[in-house]
Amino acid sequence: MNKLLNIGLSVLLTLGAVTGLQSCSEKQTGTFEVGKGTFLLNDEPMVIKAAEVHYPRIPQPYWEQRILSCKALGMNTLCLYVFWNLHEQEEGKFDFSGNNDIAAFCRLAQKHGMYVIVRPGPYVCAEWEMGGLPWWLLKKQDVQLRSLDPYYLDRVKIFMNEVGKQLADLQITRGGNIIMVQVENEFGSYGIDKPYVTEIRDIVKGAGFTDVPLFQCDWSSNFTNNALDDLLWTINFGTGANIDQQFKKLKELRPETPLMCSEFWSGWFDHWGRKHETRDAATMVSGIKDMLDRNISFSLYMTHGGTTFGWWGGANDPAYSAMCSSYDYDAPISEAGWTTSKYFQLRELLQQYAPEGTTLPEPPAPFPVMEIPAITEWEVAPLFDNLPEAKHTEDIKPMEQFDQGWGSILYRTVLKNDISGVLHIDEVHDWAQVFADGKLLGRLDRRRGEFTLDLKSTLKKGTQLDILIEAMGRVNFDKSIHDRKGITNKVEVVSGKNTVELKDWMVYNLPPFYEFVSDKKYQKGKALDAPAYYRATFNLDKTGDTFLDMQTWGKGMVWVNGHAMGRFWEIGPQQTLFMPGCWLKEGENEIIILDLKGPVETKVMGLTKPIIDMLREKAPETHRKDGQDLNLKDETPVNKGQFAQGNGWQEVKFASPVNGRFFCLNATSNYDGNNIAAIAEFDVLGENGKPVSRENWKIAYTDSEETRSGNRTADKIFDLQESTFWQTVDNTAYPHQVVIDLGKEYKVTGFRMLPRAEKNAPGLIKDYSVYVKKGNFKY
Ligand code: GLA
Ligand code: CA
Repeated sequence: MNKLLNIGLSVLLTLGAVTGLQSCSEKQTGTFEVGKGTFLLNDEPMVIKAAEVHYPRIPQPYWEQRILSCKALGMNTLCLYVFWNLHEQEEGKFDFSGNNDIAAFCRLAQKHGMYVIVRPGPYVCAEWEMGGLPWWLLKKQDVQLRSLDPYYLDRVKIFMNEVGKQLADLQITRGGNIIMVQVENEFGSYGIDKPYVTEIRDIVKGAGFTDVPLFQCDWSSNFTNNALDDLLWTINFGTGANIDQQFKKLKELRPETPLMCSEFWSGWFDHWGRKHETRDAATMVSGIKDMLDRNISFSLYMTHGGTTFGWWGGANDPAYSAMCSSYDYDAPISEAGWTTSKYFQLRELLQQYAPEGTTLPEPPAPFPVMEIPAITEWEVAPLFDNLPEAKHTEDIKPMEQFDQGWGSILYRTVLKNDISGVLHIDEVHDWAQVFADGKLLGRLDRRRGEFTLDLKSTLKKGTQLDILIEAMGRVNFDKSIHDRKGITNKVEVVSGKNTVELKDWMVYNLPPFYEFVSDKKYQKGKALDAPAYYRATFNLDKTGDTFLDMQTWGKGMVWVNGHAMGRFWEIGPQQTLFMPGCWLKEGENEIIILDLKGPVETKVMGLTKPIIDMLREKAPETHRKDGQDLNLKDETPVNKGQFAQGNGWQEVKFASPVNGRFFCLNATSNYDGNNIAAIAEFDVLGENGKPVSRENWKIAYTDSEETRSGNRTADKIFDLQESTFWQTVDNTAYPHQVVIDLGKEYKVTGFRMLPRAEKNAPGLIKDYSVYVKKGNFKY
């Protein structure tokens, strides 16, 4: 009784503190509605200018500063996802406290006069582990995520009701500031399933979101697939897109609906081992101006990206590619909360569109930044000398089957016979190191499809074989979100015609929790050329934001004062980790590093500037090897034609099908009269006229790829993102070719091509010929 009373009291107190001591009865209520051609706030027309920010990507003590920065930019609304897997890390145990307190976030926004759009998923994408879905759903072997699967839907309902308990009373009609709630997220990029979207709509309503408009967001190319009659439809697209074209279909179908770009992408996200992404500020600003001139509402994704702390980064697939810890996104407000030139360019525009007679407030001061001198005295705990208790399993199983969600996992067996040949690990999710009696035999990287290891010499009976696997982010987009970790299926040794499956394993779970990584036998020591935990303390006489320089470290994760800061990887492009000063202390601080590879030097400094654009991987940036030149002289085209002008998908059917695995598009001219060819997405049509799976596609060759001013490599034509594209270099003349290895042979009946989304589809290819072959082309 006492305890309950206490909790009640403290809730009232915080509520009071945040809303400026308004009692519930005094709260002003309002309305937000979808009117004819406009949104209506308390019956008055309103253009939503929303800033997308993510509460877990900002330390809670910094929330207010970020909200004020969005307000000073000229925004009137904040748009936020709710990340299910953050709130329900263990099935049935909910946490909405501290950094997870979404209600407090909304009230803080309200205190500063900002409205809120809530996007509670259940799936959110967001470059977030598994798109926000909890990993433990994957314990059920046959679970079908984002479908009518009863188990999945039951869990969604339980979660959504918890969200309702937190937020439903904050709808504007009840005195809060929530004006809209989203149903699912870009479902059109996942499948066609109106009954499922209908269920989610009803679950969202059932959780109490009954008073404000519910909406769906999708791409202009696919929004009709799952559009429900009673929901508002909004469209997502990025900087540079042709605004009229994006809303064309929607205007036809619903001439009176208010228009909104629910995600206008300000920049883009970074992957490990790929070039840092940026988008031009002037183009972004002109897109927003275009929308404002037409009274189109928008949410700028991201206005402030922040940091994906801990193990929460997601991944894309195909090809598997994990996200960096920095979610700077080249957004107007940088990762550390700093205003940028993009910020001020946009602010200047938004000032012009601010309500008459009002001046935008000044942006709040940024938090102080400081250096931390090199930390050089470390204690070490070798991973193999600090293993937890093992579990036995006859057959290999993925991590989830051992009740582990994140981190690393070690599979160990003692060989019952001599083995030689090639080790097949089916599949490595995501980064494996193989050891024989403690000696490293090799490393396998899922990003490159490395699942086999040549053993080179015989491993004797009695050898201890260790496979240490680090799980990186779970895939957050498309069907591959069913992404189990560790080794997903089995381990075999293939020698000639002989295949032997290895059985009888001891399994060690190595979770990424502070309690686990701090509880090791640390001893004074130096850098090891093997997986190990490192621990150090450092003293500070003041605190401030800083960027931990990880340049001398290999691959792993960092914890400071118990906070999991994020992943690092020498390959870059990110080399520093944002360390918010609010998590540092005056006096003694503790840092722990798990380095699975081993550092060159055990040294960490705090820098005053981030390094997020330093790619150090030697992997080729383009898909053309030195001296390679595609030779089509002796080849016969299966199809020749001309693309039509304008945006949108174009489909080409061959006169008769042809069997083949290598597909070459040879572009011979374009509409702009310059050298550039560009393609946003590409599909090859199979026997039934439907696109074949792009899961195992590889770019076999491209004559030219622009990597100076942007990340425009040819693999962007099958990354499932319509806003990313392949583009050739402007000083390389036509013809331009791209050769796709489809991964296996198909009966090819045609193809589909999506040009760049910008006005006039720049770089749009005009004349082309197509070649399909069973074997690769000659270069
Ligand atoms: C989509 C998703 C977002 C995010 C962006 C890319 O629009 O809805 O969650 O993943 O792509 O950053
Ligand atoms: Ca693309």
